[in-house]
Amino acid sequence: MSNTHYQLKVRNIVSETDQAIVIEFENPANQPLAYQSGQFLTLLLNIDGEPIRRAYSLCTSPAVDEFPAVTVKRVAGGKASNYLNDHLKKGDTIEVIEAQGMFTTEYDASQKRHRILLGGGSGITPLMSILKSTLQKEPQSIVSLIYANQNNASVIFKKQLEDLQNQYADRLKVVHVLEKTPLLWSKGYKGRLDSKLLKKILQTLPALEPSQTEYYLCGPSGMMQQVETSFQELGLPLESLRKESFGVSPQEAAEKRAAVVEKSKEEGLIAQTYNIKVIYAGEEFVFDVPADQTILETALKQDIDLPFSCQSGMCTACMGRCTSGKVVLDEEDALTPKELEQGYVLTCVGHPMSEGVVIEID
Ligand SMILES: Cc1cc2nc3c(=O)[nH]c(=O)nc-3n(C[C@H](O)[C@H](O)[C@H](O)COP(=O)(O)OP(=O)(O)OC[C@H]3O[C@@H](n4cnc5c(N)ncnc54)[C@H](O)[C@@H]3O)c2cc1C
Ligand code: FES
Repeated sequence: MSNTHYQLKVRNIVSETDQAIVIEFENPANQPLAYQSGQFLTLLLNIDGEPIRRAYSLCTSPAVDEFPAVTVKRVAGGKASNYLNDHLKKGDTIEVIEAQGMFTTEYDASQKRHRILLGGGSGITPLMSILKSTLQKEPQSIVSLIYANQNNASVIFKKQLEDLQNQYADRLKVVHVLEKTPLLWSKGYKGRLDSKLLKKILQTLPALEPSQTEYYLCGPSGMMQQVETSFQELGLPLESLRKESFGVSPQEAAEKRAAVVEKSKEEGLIAQTYNIKVIYAGEEFVFDVPADQTILETALKQDIDLPFSCQSGMCTACMGRCTSGKVVLDEEDALTPKELEQGYVLTCVGHPMSEGVVIEID
């Protein structure tokens, strides 16, 4: 079944920082937008005649906020983020694909737990939604947000976080970490989240049993890698760390691709053109995929309408199950070990590596 598309009217645009806007949407009365905290919307844009789609996490909570919103931070040279920051107006309509994504969690009013959210830059967006939903839906749980930014001016939701801290003084703690601090700054820590700083900060947070403590991480790839390394160095449970990535630089993507090609060779797999079958929305598509292209890339070039959003192996919108043959992924972080074991693949970063590949997409 293909995904539902909505035409969402822009209700309001708020400049959060000089690099980021919050886009608040009307909620269509005839077809209200259903979403869970941590999920993202895919915006379908047309920029100078070119169709472009990008994923943006909902920064609002369905349990708290009347209108759904996303926050878009400028990326240097980025097409969609700068277009939205520069040209989007109140009253405009944007086509979006229904909320998707697995960076969600459960809420249970009888639970008492500590959710530690580790955010960097625009990575605050899904965490903000989880933060608000947890405070609203779990009256006994506490939330700590460790929020890393370059400087004071780049902190998104500064005022909203202050208000929430006042409202939930005994259940929410926000810890700011800045690379460059203002003179006489006493509101947080300076530096990067290496193991020394992370340890220092964690010691200041309320301590619940490890079984009651959950960690959620979203930020730039460098920050996420650093936090994961810090977790290893501090002996913290990596299995309790849930992650969402917004993307990697072209250089990192190329490095990962080169490593995958090398590993495939060692395993005796041959990169060449293979004929594959994809089953989606009741139709079967059979096509050749050249070695230097991904399955999704090839399908789209042939006007085969498969589902996708980020096109970089981050969001799982293109996920399908490989029921026959061998597919190798350039990036598999977004899939859980169980999903990988069950044969799930991401067509946007997937390459067939044997004859007889069949992929079924729900
Ligand atoms: C699940 C998901 C949720 C997301 N949620 C948000 C959100 O809430 N807010 C938000 O602002 N963005 C979010 N993003 C990122 C967003 O989808 C776009 O990737 C981002 O806005 C850049 O798009 P662009 O068209 O401006 O840049 P592009 O034109 O795609 O890229 C411009 C240049 O920047 C590089 N680049 C792009 N993204 C990155 C990156 N992350 N790290 C390093 N280099 C990069 C590109 O490779 C290219 O060189 C999310 C991404 C995913 C996958
Ligand atoms: S389109 Fe996002 S993971 Fe493939």
